[in-house]
Amino acid sequence: MTKPILTNSILTIPIKRLVVVGLGLIGGSLAAALKKASACQEVIGIARRSVTCADAVRLGIVDRAYLSIAEVAAELESGDVVFISVPTLSVEKILQEIVGCVDPQVTITDGASVKGSVIESVKRVYGLIPPQFVAGHPIAGSEQSGVEASDPDLYINHRVILTPTEETGAAHLELITGMWHAAGAEVLTMPVEEHDDVLAATSHLPHAIAYSLVDTLAHDSENENIFRYAAGGFRDFTRIASSDPVMWHDIMRANKSSVLSALNLFTDNLQRLSSAIEQEDGEYLLGVFTRAKAARDHFSKMLNKQAYSTNMQHSISYTVQPGGCVQGELRVPGDKSISHRSIMLGSLAEGITEVEGFLEGEDALATLQAFRDMGVVIEGPDSGRVKIHGVGLHGLQKPPGPLYVGNSGTSMRLLAGLLAGQIFDSELTGDESLTKRPMNRVANPLREMGAKITTAEGGRPPLNIKGGQVLNAINYTMPMASAQVKSCILLAGLYANGTTQVTEPAPTRDHTERMLTGFGYPVKRDGAMAQLSSGGALSSTFIEVPADISSATFFMVAAAIAPGSDVTLTHVGINPTRDGVISILTLMGADISLLNKRDVGGEPVADIRVKYAPLKGINIPEDQVPLAIDEFPALFIAASCAEGTTVLTGAEELRVKESDRIQVMADGLKILGVSAQPTADGIVIEGGVIGGGEVESHDDHRIAMSFTIAALRATAPIVVNNCANVMTSFPTFVGLAQQAGIALTVNE
Ligand code: S3P
Repeated sequence: MTKPILTNSILTIPIKRLVVVGLGLIGGSLAAALKKASACQEVIGIARRSVTCADAVRLGIVDRAYLSIAEVAAELESGDVVFISVPTLSVEKILQEIVGCVDPQVTITDGASVKGSVIESVKRVYGLIPPQFVAGHPIAGSEQSGVEASDPDLYINHRVILTPTEETGAAHLELITGMWHAAGAEVLTMPVEEHDDVLAATSHLPHAIAYSLVDTLAHDSENENIFRYAAGGFRDFTRIASSDPVMWHDIMRANKSSVLSALNLFTDNLQRLSSAIEQEDGEYLLGVFTRAKAARDHFSKMLNKQAYSTNMQHSISYTVQPGGCVQGELRVPGDKSISHRSIMLGSLAEGITEVEGFLEGEDALATLQAFRDMGVVIEGPDSGRVKIHGVGLHGLQKPPGPLYVGNSGTSMRLLAGLLAGQIFDSELTGDESLTKRPMNRVANPLREMGAKITTAEGGRPPLNIKGGQVLNAINYTMPMASAQVKSCILLAGLYANGTTQVTEPAPTRDHTERMLTGFGYPVKRDGAMAQLSSGGALSSTFIEVPADISSATFFMVAAAIAPGSDVTLTHVGINPTRDGVISILTLMGADISLLNKRDVGGEPVADIRVKYAPLKGINIPEDQVPLAIDEFPALFIAASCAEGTTVLTGAEELRVKESDRIQVMADGLKILGVSAQPTADGIVIEGGVIGGGEVESHDDHRIAMSFTIAALRATAPIVVNNCANVMTSFPTFVGLAQQAGIALTVNE
């Protein structure tokens, strides 16, 4: 499908006169809107009945009105617009009246809901498509009709689709675009056929269903009580069945073939639903209902490849007032890495896996959606609870289209391993930031195993993965310390002949290995090596996701730098492959205690209490780098508040995260007056005074949150731009930060 083109042109050529043929809701509302906006000199109405003409004049919707366009045609000239606003199948009759008397310089447009039939009518009447004709369709309306229902605000923030053809004159198109803008609408253009297919599915089909449903019930005498007791659901669902019957009769006939394909597809699916109810196939019903709910909750965002969270659809910035401290007991959301893996392994398991504490952030939701797209029934998330109906290692189905994983590198890299072992082809795509990140680090070892993967130039996404390949186990020594690469190869190993072995240059997070074990899949581990063989099965389990130490870090650093602070972060995962931040802050002199240490489902957990204590600069031990890989942006803020110099080396991986975290942090710190010198594999930071200023997060969640906490020690306000991506990992950040004592306001 081609992407609709959004036109932003303003009304450059003023409309002189607007002639509205057909004074119903659509035509009357355009007339009223242009009059209200003083966007044309005069509005003339044409209606078949004199009473309608009189009403339109009396209501002030038009300046004058006639029974036929022939009565005013001689007055019309370039800059005037004729808007045909009659039921679709009547457009041709109006065109026959227009063709002989309206000057070719006059712009003609229409508002019919089907564009193919209108274009055919134009060709029949004119013998061709004249440049003056611009086909259009305002996507607005209501179940009310008639001139009295005219509403000057009907089109505000609604869309109008124009379907110009090659013959359409540019000036005429511009005039009509400007006219709709003046009425408050957003204008898109798309090809005629595409318009008719899209509208058949999104508008014509639901109308056909609503009319048919009400008619079915209304003609069954036993159902008369249905109308008496009709509650909200029935009313909502059938509201559109009280729209204008003639108009809809025309639309169904005019868009016959597109409506029929949509209706037939729906009928087949309804038949399957009916069989599922008959056979009490609960799994099928839940599958349909959970997928539909997710689609309904997110559909506009999914369509536009936008974020699931509403607050990610706008660009937002944070303004943080200087000073203050953080206090209290805080529970940050679930661990991102564990949340991803819970969906992946739960889907591949046999039986139902229940998850609690699931992170409802964009990245983990992207993984969840990818598995739904591959046919897995997943209930929730609902307050962190998810129920995954596992399909077994060989039960995934071919997704209907590319799997879009947004900003999430973990989803893309881990899924690549899994998808390499499937029988179907797949494509993994992501947002602008992810599209710049290196994928050959997973594609190359997977190719060594026999996978067929193509990438965009330079090993960047999208990844196209050919299904049905025979994978063979490898013994892979990773060139970089990466849990994503390790996990990817292990997941591919579930499908490879033989025993797959991965050796890492330094310890990285081991959630995949731990969780596979939790699902009863044997993983052998020996020092830097992890090994598994194919042929086993995962059995469903219960997973409690601990709070994410990477999110807790922002409040740990906040407490460590702001005098008077004392916070306790509860139920945080302190897996030894993730606890570098605790070691590094402790080395810097932070006052950290781990309380209530316990084991939760194979992962160590504790409450972390941090009290303010003066920090000193250190040389960060290189062996801590992979153990704190996501925590460096926040640690750089700690270093900026420490006495003396902090030196980080061996951390070149930071340059290929959601942003180049070395450069982006150095740039921001410099703006705030901190001496920060980037190096190839790290940074040198002199502790000192943090000033105020405006910094960029470069759409990187961890950069945004790091500069937010810096304000606790700043001398003036800090504004952090482009913070919407905080939703990827920490959807409750703003509320928790405010609750803890950070003077943060969000600006949209
Ligand atoms: C992750 C591994 C790390 C980390 C990322 C999550 C994981 O990436 O930075 O946020 O869940 O496996 P690398 O494997 O690229 O180091």
